[in-house]
Amino acid sequence: MDRWAVPHSLNDSRPRKTLAGRTPRLGVLHVASEVAPWSKTGGLADVASALPSALESLGHRVTTVLPLHRGSDFPEGERRPLTLTFGSRTWHGALQIVSLSPSRRVVGVDMPEWFDRDGLYAIGGTDYADNAERFAGLAHAALDFAQQDLDGGRIDIVHAHDWQAGLVPSLIRQQPARWTRVARAGLVLTIHNLAFQGLFPKEVIDRLGLSWDLFTMDVGEFWGHLSYLKCGVASADVVTTVSPSYAIETTQAELGFGFDGVLRGLSDRYVGILNGIDTSVWDPASDPQLPAHYSSEDLAGKRVTKRVLLETFGLPVGDDAIDRPVIGIVSRLVEQKGFDVVLAAADTLMELDATWVVVGSGDAEYERGFQALARRFPSRMAVRIGFDEGLAHLVEGGADLFLMPSRFEPCGLNQMYSLRYGTVPVVRAVGGLDDTVRQYGPRAKRANGFKFKDATPEALVGTLRQALRVYRRADRWADLVRAGMKADHSWAPSAREYVKVYRRARHEAAQRWAE
Ligand code: ADP
Ligand code: GLC
Repeated sequence: MDRWAVPHSLNDSRPRKTLAGRTPRLGVLHVASEVAPWSKTGGLADVASALPSALESLGHRVTTVLPLHRGSDFPEGERRPLTLTFGSRTWHGALQIVSLSPSRRVVGVDMPEWFDRDGLYAIGGTDYADNAERFAGLAHAALDFAQQDLDGGRIDIVHAHDWQAGLVPSLIRQQPARWTRVARAGLVLTIHNLAFQGLFPKEVIDRLGLSWDLFTMDVGEFWGHLSYLKCGVASADVVTTVSPSYAIETTQAELGFGFDGVLRGLSDRYVGILNGIDTSVWDPASDPQLPAHYSSEDLAGKRVTKRVLLETFGLPVGDDAIDRPVIGIVSRLVEQKGFDVVLAAADTLMELDATWVVVGSGDAEYERGFQALARRFPSRMAVRIGFDEGLAHLVEGGADLFLMPSRFEPCGLNQMYSLRYGTVPVVRAVGGLDDTVRQYGPRAKRANGFKFKDATPEALVGTLRQALRVYRRADRWADLVRAGMKADHSWAPSAREYVKVYRRARHEAAQRWAE
C-alpha cells in the first residue's frame, strides 16, 4: 500500500446512514494561526479558510479558532471574557464568536498583548521572543473555548494546523480530565511546512507550566529544544500534510528537516492530501479584483487584464508588449521558493523575449536582487515589494506564465490559481507542484504546464525557453490554457479525503481509550 493512502478498510467516505436515515455529521474544531481574509502571510490562511467551508458543504459542523491579529477586520459577534492561567501568569482578554452560517463558526482570540502586533510571527525578519508563550496561549484559548462552549454541540475532531497549534493535541492527551469535552475526540495535525518547527529552549517548559513529559525523544524534544510541531506530530492520532508527494519527500532525509524518522514511524497514520483552492474567491469569471472577466470559452477579458497589469506596473503597453509573454511571480521571497536560481540566471533570463512582473516580500537579498534587476531592465521587469492581495489577483489574471522554481513546496496554491486563470505554470517538479502540474509534450494529452527537475539555472532557462516556444504556437498554447482552466481544483474531493482521515482519527482515539 502506498504510504500516504488511507487503509482500505477506512477508505470509504460514503455517508453512513443512521437509523433515522440521516447522515451523521462530524463536529470539527480547527485551530490555526492565520485565516483568510482576516490574517494571512501565506497559503495556510487560504487553507484554514477554505477547508472548513468545504467541510460545511459536506454537511459537517465546523468551528475555527484563530488569533485576532492587528488589522484583522473580524466581524462583530458574541463576546465572551477569556481568562487564561498557565505558568505563573494570568492573562485577560476575550473571545469573539461569529456564526458564519448555522454550521460554521469562527472564534477570534482577542488577546492584544499577544496578537496586536505589526507582524504575525516576526518583525523585521526576527521571530518574536515570546512566540512560545503566544502560541501556548492560542492552544489554551482554543481548549478553554471548547470546554466552555456548551451550545456548539459535540466535538468529534480537533484539527490543529502547523507548529502554532502543535500544543493543542499534546495538552488534550496530557490532561484529559481537564479538557473533558475534547478528551475523546480524534486528534489531527496538518503539517503545512516542515521547515517551521516551533523550536524553543527547554526553559519554556517551566515558564509556561508545560509538563516535562513533553520533553522526551518520543514527544516534543528535538535536539535539545522543545518543538511544538513535534509535540503535535507525536500526540495526534493522524498526521497529514498537504500533498502526496510532500508526504513521501518528508519521510526522506533530504527534505525531512530531521523529522523524517518520526514521520516514517507513523507509517499509515501519516497521509498526504492535496490542497484545493477556494473557487469562489479565485474565479476569473467573477473576481472583483480583475478589470475584466473571462472564462475558458471566452478569453478576451484576459487580454484586457494583461494590459491593465502592464499599466499598473508601469511597463510598456504597446501592441508589441501585449503580444510578448508576461511571466508572473507572486511569492514570499525566501530560500524555499528557489529565487536564488532565478537571480543566478538573471542575465540570460533578461535576454528571453518576455516581460516579468514580480510581487513579493521576504529576505532582503531577494528583494534587493529583484529590485536591482528591475532597475537594469526597466522595460522588461517590474517589481512590487510588499504583500498585496489585489496585485496577486491581477498578476494571476494578466500574466501568461507563472513561475514557481521552489526548492521544496509542500503544496503551493499559486500554481492552481494560475491554472484556473489560464496562466500556464512553470514549476520545479517537487512536492505539490509535481502533483498538480503535468509537463507539456506534443503528444501529452493532459498537459497543463512545464516543469524541471534540477534546481539549476540551466534547467530553469531550458524549460522557460521551451515554454516560450510553445507560447508562439497559438493553437498549442490555447490547448494548454484551456486544459488548466477546465480542470477541477476545488476543495470538495480533498475535503472528502479529510473526512476519511477524521474517521480514522476517531477510530484511533477510541483504541487509545480502550487500552
Ligand atoms: P506559501 O504558503 O508557502 O507562501 P502558497 O503557494 O501555498 O505558498 O500560498 C501563498 C499564498 O500567499 C497565495 O495565496 C499567494 O497569492 C499569497 N501571496 C504570497 N506572497 C504574496 C504577496 N506578496 N502579496 C499577495 N499575496 C501573496
Ligand atoms: C505552506 C506551504 C505551501 C502550502 C501552504 C498551504 O505555507 O509552503 O506549499 O501550499 O502551506 O498548505
